[in-house]
Amino acid sequence: MTREAVSETTLSGWPLRRGKVRDIYDLGDRLLMVSTDRISAFDWVLPTPIPDKGRVLTQISDFWFDFLKTDNHLLSSDLGEIVLPDESARPSLEGRSMIVRKCQVVPIECVVRGYLDGSGWKEYQQNGQVCGISLPAGLQQCSQLAEPIFTPATKEETGHDINISFERMVEIVGKELSEELRQRSIDIYLRGAQYARSKGILIADTKFEWGLVEGQLILIDEVLTPDSSRFWPANQYQPGKGQPSFDKQFVRDYLTEAGWDKNSAPPELPEEIVEKTRAKYIEAYEQLTDQTFAWK
Ligand SMILES: Nc1ncnc2c1ncn2[C@@H]1O[C@H](COP(=O)(O)OP(=O)(O)O)[C@@H](O)[C@H]1O
Ligand SMILES: [Mg+2]
Repeated sequence: MTREAVSETTLSGWPLRRGKVRDIYDLGDRLLMVSTDRISAFDWVLPTPIPDKGRVLTQISDFWFDFLKTDNHLLSSDLGEIVLPDESARPSLEGRSMIVRKCQVVPIECVVRGYLDGSGWKEYQQNGQVCGISLPAGLQQCSQLAEPIFTPATKEETGHDINISFERMVEIVGKELSEELRQRSIDIYLRGAQYARSKGILIADTKFEWGLVEGQLILIDEVLTPDSSRFWPANQYQPGKGQPSFDKQFVRDYLTEAGWDKNSAPPELPEEIVEKTRAKYIEAYEQLTDQTFAWK
């Protein structure tokens, strides 16, 4: 392996919260969000990290914050602006960190779907609806929808997020905020997906998070990354079955072929799968942004 993966960070003395993939340090009114190289598949974090995955995801979010030009939490992705408690950690954090405004997180996952897969497809097969939105009969798995739909979910600390209707969202966060979130989420999905399509990537669906700071709604978390969205290679798109995942296909195929039961701790990934997966992440970034990945 030519690159050292970062699976966990520790900056001694700084309050840390570990998400599934990110390590988040509390700097008072700001947060330092570090994307590690942890990877999840089938809802499990795997024991083997993918070197530079966190950097790719950070660069992708960075690209979209700039592209979308919607109010957001990003203050800087230049780590040079802060003094670290442990300077020796700096090289491993470079390129994978964002300094963001800390805000009050709106407790709703703002999911937008342009294609029918995942929990949306499951629900549709049962009752012809997704989150209370009725869809036309006869859609297939991964069919493109006539227009994108907003299908909110609650943020769950453990286990799966729970899909809810728009009416339920209104009960939780109010009508005005719900309508603004729906409109802004659909708008940025449309703009992002149209751009990605022109680069050969279908963003089938995605999840946005929003926060409030001084009464203002801003886009937070990660944006239109392969971790928060389904990325499909456009040239292989064929509805009526599951699509290959742009980034995780090698990992999923390996885990399936290895006979892992998906109910117990997942196995280590072999080096070949790690290398191929790393290359896919870099390819996604380069294809999407026309930039060369700086840590190659
Ligand atoms: N600007 C922000 N202010 C406060 N919390 C944020 C902000 N941006 C993202 N977050 C939160 O930080 C966490 C990101 O870490 P992540 O690894 O994605 O965690 P999770 O396992 O919950 O998805 C999420 O819980 C997200 O809601
Ligand atoms: Mg997350």
